[in-house]
Amino acid sequence: MKALVLAGGMGTRLRPLTHAMPKQLVPIANKPVLFHGLESIRRAGITEVGVIVGDWHKEIEDAAGDGTAFGLRITYIHQEAPFGLAHCVVLGREFLADDDFVMYLGDNVFGDGIHEMADAFRRDRPAAQVAVTAVDSPQEYGIAETGPDGRVVRLQEKPRRPRSNLAVTGAYFFSPLIHEAVLDIEPSWRGEWEITDAIQLLVERDQDVRAVAFSGWWKDTGRIEDILDCNRRLLDVAQTSVRGTVDAASTLLGPVVVEPGARIVRSHLRGPLIVGADSVVQDSYVGPHTSLGAGCALTDAGVSHSILLDGASVSDVNGIHGSVIGRSARVGVSPEGAGRHRLVVGDDTELEVIA
Ligand code: G1P
Repeated sequence: MKALVLAGGMGTRLRPLTHAMPKQLVPIANKPVLFHGLESIRRAGITEVGVIVGDWHKEIEDAAGDGTAFGLRITYIHQEAPFGLAHCVVLGREFLADDDFVMYLGDNVFGDGIHEMADAFRRDRPAAQVAVTAVDSPQEYGIAETGPDGRVVRLQEKPRRPRSNLAVTGAYFFSPLIHEAVLDIEPSWRGEWEITDAIQLLVERDQDVRAVAFSGWWKDTGRIEDILDCNRRLLDVAQTSVRGTVDAASTLLGPVVVEPGARIVRSHLRGPLIVGADSVVQDSYVGPHTSLGAGCALTDAGVSHSILLDGASVSDVNGIHGSVIGRSARVGVSPEGAGRHRLVVGDDTELEVIA
């Protein structure tokens, strides 16, 4: 089995972060979203991976390289514009040849990985297998209706009147039969060649299409809230590992990861959290579910339930919560004095200050 990983999307809902980086490289628990996916592909026993890339191809190729670091062999396939998931299968045709494959959405994270689903597909070998989970807002997803035997009887992309709450998630397992189906569909109302429509064609052609449930959580990290939630869930299984330095005046509670070169000085750390390499946390409080990237600086600060990207700094500000702070961004107190805010705010940024 091969893998086709989709990493071409623009990530407009993740602005401003995605003005500066592709959404697949946004760090969650200090690791790009995409790397969590590549690791679970490897754990499923797959080594041949095609990665579909778009405008951000250089950044993604620089980060993931030829795949050796993950035990994978990566082939990059260029997509001119995001024409839809089924279009990615067409682009991947030559790389995929006549092998079975998993199509994996590069901004999705499965808490327990995808290896159990891959094993089920290898064992049952249906024409296609989708991974489904119950969701609260079925209008936002591809939705599957299933029969009592787990077979899919109907699939619809973002239906206005959903007939079930079973959303199709970002790991699709296919036999080569999908290649004919993707050529036989028309673009949807949103102008995309939908993989949901191609799988629906397989159903109409009486092919065996199955839906499998999976253990653990799943996140499509399309929005900032999803990034923070995914960060929380990944940190929840972190284990204490201190490879940087912690002075005697600091306290650590719960699972705390301090990466090499990081320094904790007169601070209180309440995990689960991670402090990235070469970061300095001084006279500060870092609360649960916080990921500080590499080279961050906290001075007289308090941060919890947040993500700071590499090189970000916070000084003299407490109560930062549920926040994402971009690379080398600086949060501090205005020298203008009380009652004044000095702001240098980039495009599509959100700030919430006390009025
Ligand atoms: C895509 C698929 C949809 C699926 C979802 C999972 O939606 O089209 O069927 O449920 O991924 O994340 P999109 O992210 O393109 O809106």
